[in-house]
Amino acid sequence: MIVLGIETSCDETAASVVEDGKILSNIVASQIEIHKPYGGVVPELASRHHIRNIVPVVDTALEKSERDISQVDGIAVTNGPGLIGSLLVGLSFAKGVAASYGKKIVGINHLEAHFTIAFALYEIPLPAIALVVSGGHTNLYLVRGKLNYKKLGETRDDAAGEAFDKVAKLLGLGYPGGVVIDKLARKGDPDRFHFPRGMMRSGDYDFSFSGLKTAVAVHVKKKGIRGKIEDLVASFQEAVVDVLVFKTISAAEDYGARSIIVAGGVAANSRLREKMKSEAERKKLSIFFPPMEYCTDNGAMVAYTGYLYFTAGREDPLTLDAYDTDPD
Ligand code: KG4
Ligand code: ZN
Repeated sequence: MIVLGIETSCDETAASVVEDGKILSNIVASQIEIHKPYGGVVPELASRHHIRNIVPVVDTALEKSERDISQVDGIAVTNGPGLIGSLLVGLSFAKGVAASYGKKIVGINHLEAHFTIAFALYEIPLPAIALVVSGGHTNLYLVRGKLNYKKLGETRDDAAGEAFDKVAKLLGLGYPGGVVIDKLARKGDPDRFHFPRGMMRSGDYDFSFSGLKTAVAVHVKKKGIRGKIEDLVASFQEAVVDVLVFKTISAAEDYGARSIIVAGGVAANSRLREKMKSEAERKKLSIFFPPMEYCTDNGAMVAYTGYLYFTAGREDPLTLDAYDTDPD
């Protein structure tokens, strides 16, 4: 079975071809440079660039896979959650191709795709706990098998990556903030300042990062960037990482999980990787961080999840719609 996957939920235009679960191509047009001057994604600009990029990105994905649209059995497309204008570009395009070439279509949940791609890459001991942590989301899942999962918690306000981006903007460090902070923090003392660890209590898997962001803003307003900025960002980063690691490891213990999957752009964070790995090892849990091309937004995760759904017999009607907020 050959599946074409299309992803346009935020600022990356992405497409991929997967054949019988094997990834043949994975093409991404990034918009980082477009949004950089604004310190965050500007939805209207993102939609406009998706319109420009969608045809060349899909064409390149087909070309690289050495497959033709006539050979494709079905189209998998992200239909939520995400920015509505962005989602509608990919979804309308996918529907158009499906209608004109007589292909079946399936709508894919972006967050489910983020951790489901791990099944294409690894043998995952089950059950697993999956943490999806990016600029738009901080979600925790209990994964019992392929397409068999339950959401345990999500952020009540800012996503972890959003907190990195907003703190970097506040400190005038540039965009995307996570990358800059990660680098600077390596030279800083994470214990120099104490910032709040939001909602760090057992049995509650929701997250909150807006208090932490405010605490950094208040600290800077009151004391300025006294001492080294490296210490300030290292202390901030440590607070984010502590919460992410505590909640993920607690969930693994509470649900008797055997492994942990971490996906999303923030999975690139060196301190998160280090601390999550050492805690997982201490608890004898296997841990999987997919390579970055499958961790940040990509088409392969959508095509692969679509492949699993088509194989299980699911397909959606052409009336399929987009949604901005993740359902409970
Ligand atoms: O998954 P992604 O590429 O896009 C979406 O948000 O969907 O994630 C981007 C986010 C940004 O907020 C960025 O600051 C963060 O991931 N990020 C990092 C690092 N690299 C990217 N955060 C912390 N440490 C990093 N090394
Ligand atoms: Zn994402």
